[in-house]
Amino acid sequence: MMREGLARTGRVLASLVLAGLVSGAADRPAPLDAAHWREVFARPDHTPTPPDNPTTTEKVALGARLFDDTRLSGDGMTACSTCHQSDLSFSDGVDRHVGHDGQPLDRRTPALWNLAWGLSFFWDGRASSLETQAMVPIENEREMAGNLQTALQSLASDARMRKDFSAAFPEDPTVTQGNLAKALAAFQRTLVSPETRFDRWVKGEDKALEPEELAGFSLFVGKAGCVACHQGWRFTDEAFHDIGLPSTDKGRGPVLGVPAADHAFKTPSLRERVWSAPYMHDGSLTTFEDVVDHYADRIVKRPTLSADLPKEIELSATERAQLVAFLNTLSSDDPPRPANLPAKTIAWGTNADAVAASTVSQKDRRFSPGAILMKVGEALRILNDDTRVHNVRVDGPAKSFNSDAQNPGDTVTIGFDQPGQYDVICGIHPDMRLSVTVSTAQAH
Ligand code: HEC
Ligand code: HEC
Repeated sequence: MMREGLARTGRVLASLVLAGLVSGAADRPAPLDAAHWREVFARPDHTPTPPDNPTTTEKVALGARLFDDTRLSGDGMTACSTCHQSDLSFSDGVDRHVGHDGQPLDRRTPALWNLAWGLSFFWDGRASSLETQAMVPIENEREMAGNLQTALQSLASDARMRKDFSAAFPEDPTVTQGNLAKALAAFQRTLVSPETRFDRWVKGEDKALEPEELAGFSLFVGKAGCVACHQGWRFTDEAFHDIGLPSTDKGRGPVLGVPAADHAFKTPSLRERVWSAPYMHDGSLTTFEDVVDHYADRIVKRPTLSADLPKEIELSATERAQLVAFLNTLSSDDPPRPANLPAKTIAWGTNADAVAASTVSQKDRRFSPGAILMKVGEALRILNDDTRVHNVRVDGPAKSFNSDAQNPGDTVTIGFDQPGQYDVICGIHPDMRLSVTVSTAQAH
């Protein structure tokens, strides 16, 4: 089999030499068994839920509110969503989040898509369910530095929260640790990454992927050996591997008390990763290009290295670019809209609560209208009536503002207390522009 393949490659090579095309020969991917791989990467038709925590609309709505609730933290400033930001695939864009003590945390904030299918949680797999995982960051001194009892008391003193807990848990209508964990877990199980172009190819649409991307997929399942660990529609085997990063973090080894598992970390899903850079448990790799270069050239050889890594991966510059092109097809063109996030209002500036003088729409990636005249003291309302996540940034006289993620349904209200010219853009789609002219005449 092997020898036949080599002989064939030799023949192809020989004919290419004759045709004067030999430099391209090494970049030719092996033929792809499309039918086989379409089966391997097919998406499931439903999301699994544990029998003791069935998903209900009320529970998910409560979980989504709790995910955004700073009362869970000791200083009342940190919510789950402070680190797990929806427009960054529920990661935070930094290599390691700076903790309560001002020092970076030990590991990077992982993306949270598709954890309903997870078998263990955290980079080292030390939590066995989303329910048990959720209580850890709350009491962790460096993450939320909270106290569960205090947090539960604070939630229970809020009438709306008591009502939401009752609706979510009719059989046990109490604000307890168990129900808090169940609601957070139920919400996180709804974070299922949407279909991308790769899924359209899997469903049989041959033209959904460009030739370069398909060549990258051939490498991924072929000589680059990625599929040994990144397998199935989520692109993870749920196992722990040492992939030879220089980090000294021992990962899975100490959790098991098995030194052979030192430096091993959970294989992450590769879905929607365009939005969650930097990569790896330590955030040490900035781009997909860096990741591919790591596998090809920079693996630290040590006894714990995963047996599932190919002995040697030789990749030309073209092949590396093809792999990166393929990885990009596993992400949406815009940060995907997470279902079930409650709409919120982000207010900025004096009089931001005033009745809005004007409302601007963001439908189809456009501020509409694109120019607004206002008076000092008036408020502007910017409503995300689009299907995408946006980010409102304002630059003007001696002032600038950044809204963070503005999810579909969210409103940003801005009060202007100084005359002048303000430029409003979306940080995610910078071609979205709104010009605001504020005149001195006081509003009445
Ligand atoms: C200060 C930042 C921060 C906050 C706040 C935070 N997390 Fe995390 N989260 C992390 C980091 C860092 C990890 C990885 C830690 C590790 O693997 O050792 C993590 C891991 C996780 C994981 C495991 C994901 C996986 O792939 O295994 C889940 C689930 C999670 N967090 C949910 C939550 C929830 C729910 C909350 C709120 C109750 C929360 N986080 C609050 C930073 C944070
Ligand atoms: C031996 C198993 C294995 C193989 C083979 C493998 N990976 Fe990985 N991959 C992992 C593990 C484990 C991690 C996380 C490692 C860590 O953080 O220490 C990872 C991380 C990644 C990440 C970063 C994801 C994130 O969210 O941080 C990308 C991208 C990636 N791999 C792509 C690839 C590509 C492309 C290939 C083929 C060239 C490949 N992997 C081959 C196991 C593997």
